Amino acid sequence: MSHTPAIGIHDLSLATTEFVLPHATLAAHNGTDVGKYHVGIGQRSMSVAAADEDIVTLAATAAAPIIARHGSDRIRTVVFATESSIDQAKSAGVYVHSLLGLPSASRVVELKQACYGATAGLQFAIGLVRRDPTQRVLVIASDVSKYELDSPGEATQGAAAVALLVSADPALVTIEDPSGVFTADVMDFWRPNYRDAALVDGHESITAYLQAVEGCWKDYTEQGGRELEDFAAFCYHQPFTKMAYKAHRHLLNYTGHATDEDQARKGLEQTTAYNNVIGNSYTASVYLALASLLENADDLTGRAIAFLSYGSGSVAELFAGTVTPGYRDHLRTDAHQHAVKRRTELDYAAYRELHQRSLPTDGSDHPIPEQTGGPFRLAALRGHKRIYEAR
Ligand code: HMG
Repeated sequence: MSHTPAIGIHDLSLATTEFVLPHATLAAHNGTDVGKYHVGIGQRSMSVAAADEDIVTLAATAAAPIIARHGSDRIRTVVFATESSIDQAKSAGVYVHSLLGLPSASRVVELKQACYGATAGLQFAIGLVRRDPTQRVLVIASDVSKYELDSPGEATQGAAAVALLVSADPALVTIEDPSGVFTADVMDFWRPNYRDAALVDGHESITAYLQAVEGCWKDYTEQGGRELEDFAAFCYHQPFTKMAYKAHRHLLNYTGHATDEDQARKGLEQTTAYNNVIGNSYTASVYLALASLLENADDLTGRAIAFLSYGSGSVAELFAGTVTPGYRDHLRTDAHQHAVKRRTELDYAAYRELHQRSLPTDGSDHPIPEQTGGPFRLAALRGHKRIYEAR
């Protein structure tokens, strides 16, 4: 009988933007009580992309340290998950492949289903590694979240990328087999091809998310998954951090558990540190929750973690991971904290100007102002092509 190796997340690296807008600044502009942001939705600040940053530069910045640590020899597949795509045909992953000098003997593809895409990528990657455990798959989640100015969604913007190296015998987390999956055709959040900013029915989207939590749990249980009590922590998709609490309380109630404050907080508190200051990073959000948990919680060796990945529209998946002995030696805590702390704070006028900026569509030469201090930038548009630069 052949031995099936453990497969999961071997390395995780995150990146975020050059700029940040504190919610206090937004509140002062629109006359909202800042408590609505800090407490009501659980957000302190949101990452704002510079003019020369996009999903490609964020993704390359997140993935570069993984290639530096592990090399690229065994990576034969790159999966790029996003819902803020820059091209209808070409995968954003091909630009990243080029910027990082990955081998030509590789396949690269882009996946989309709102915030859920990276979890599809992770599951597909596990299938590939199971077929050939010598191979590794680079899964990248990268998004810039943008809503209309002065809309209720505005306070839930953000931007970040997470790169995951998926392999056999993973150093961080083994992903277990049973998954609870759920799909429902709902119009809670969407972005037609002709729009920069998403359209959303905010309250409907919360209801749709909670319905998906129930659907996933039901299926997870039917697939022979763990009991709720087995989990040391719960990494939810966090469009705003309060949403994780709403979702968890809903799950506790659905499964017949107490839903008081203490119960709802258990296993969640340490998952919100990055999302709280970065904002909604769509596909990356649930894996930012994982980074926050691994870096902030007491020793989790051997413990089970639940993941709930939700993408509007809607598709969701609930699955479990177990934490590998020695995982702490492989974390990137200092680099991640630096990525968050190095951001330059914007005043409201500068944020608004960046928000209103859109890339020219006339196909002529347009150099992009140099704003990011990061290792990759979008240097120009030329002949309808994006020209990237590595520093
Ligand atoms: P809103 O309607 O302006 O806010 O927008 P609200 O009136 O519902 O207030 C929010 C909370 O703040 C409430 O708490 C208030 O009571 C509280 P809750 O009842 O929910 O517990 N509050 C205060 N608390 C303390 N002090 C105060 C105060 N004032 C009020 N002074 C909404 C909120 C989230 C709807 C809006 O920001 C929005 O539309 N965001 C975008 C949609 C979204 O994030 N949906 C989440 C679920 S869908 C999802 O996760 C998928 C997504 O990531 C996309 C994808 O999959 O691609 C979005």
